Amino acid sequence: MSETLTITIDGKECTCEKGEYLYDVAKRNGIFIPVLCRSDAFADHRACCRVCIVEVTTRGRTKIVTSCIYPVNEPCEVQTQSDEIKEERAVIFALLHARAPESQRITEMNKWLGGTGFDRLVTLDNEKCVLCGLCVQACASLGTGAISTINRGTEKMIDTPYGKPSEYCVGCLSCANVCPTGAISFSENEDTRTIWNRTFELQRCEKCGKVMGTRESVAHSVKGTLTELPTVCDECKKRETADALMKAYRNA
Ligand code: SF4
Ligand code: FES
Repeated sequence: MSETLTITIDGKECTCEKGEYLYDVAKRNGIFIPVLCRSDAFADHRACCRVCIVEVTTRGRTKIVTSCIYPVNEPCEVQTQSDEIKEERAVIFALLHARAPESQRITEMNKWLGGTGFDRLVTLDNEKCVLCGLCVQACASLGTGAISTINRGTEKMIDTPYGKPSEYCVGCLSCANVCPTGAISFSENEDTRTIWNRTFELQRCEKCGKVMGTRESVAHSVKGTLTELPTVCDECKKRETADALMKAYRNA
């Protein structure tokens, strides 16, 4: 049986299961801690942005931890807004802002924290990506693995191999949807979607006309091939089944 612990976060008493991540305990109790590289879509967290830092005091000793991967194993006192945390978080955001000056979310969070940036920091041009790796994680978790980190230092970026259209990409948009900074661009019209330099044909439900995805992503999700794609979306299928059951019930 799991053990229950009582901790305080910003003076508020909170109960949690032993081993639960501190960020999750705070969130459940309505206490805001900023996160960037943390996505509830994945069980394993990369913990590379450090914006979720908090101060934890256990048995008289205080340390700074990344709350998104800090398991609560004993009673403790947590401060999410101490002077030291505010100062360190402001530096982290100033660095992120210099790395990704075009990201609206980073700019807004930086302003919210009162950070204005440091003059001596070199700011990258036209950049929105903070290299959190969530997009690569999303792509890998689908078994597609079309994108990865390439190059080093300031040239480091996320791309397909050699920046060429990838035969593994299915155009599902998982990478763009999980990206916290809006760094992955794509375009769509009535019939096609273009992402990572590749254009895909869209598959629409023949009943309601809704976009089901690209032909490749629909085939991938049903582990099928492009020649035998489902033509009706899940909602219409459910409605059809419910209608058929109702008809059978009425005729019984
Ligand atoms: S493109 Fe977005 S999700 Fe991918 S590493 Fe950059 S910021 Fe993270
Ligand atoms: S959100 Fe915790 S390290 Fe990024």
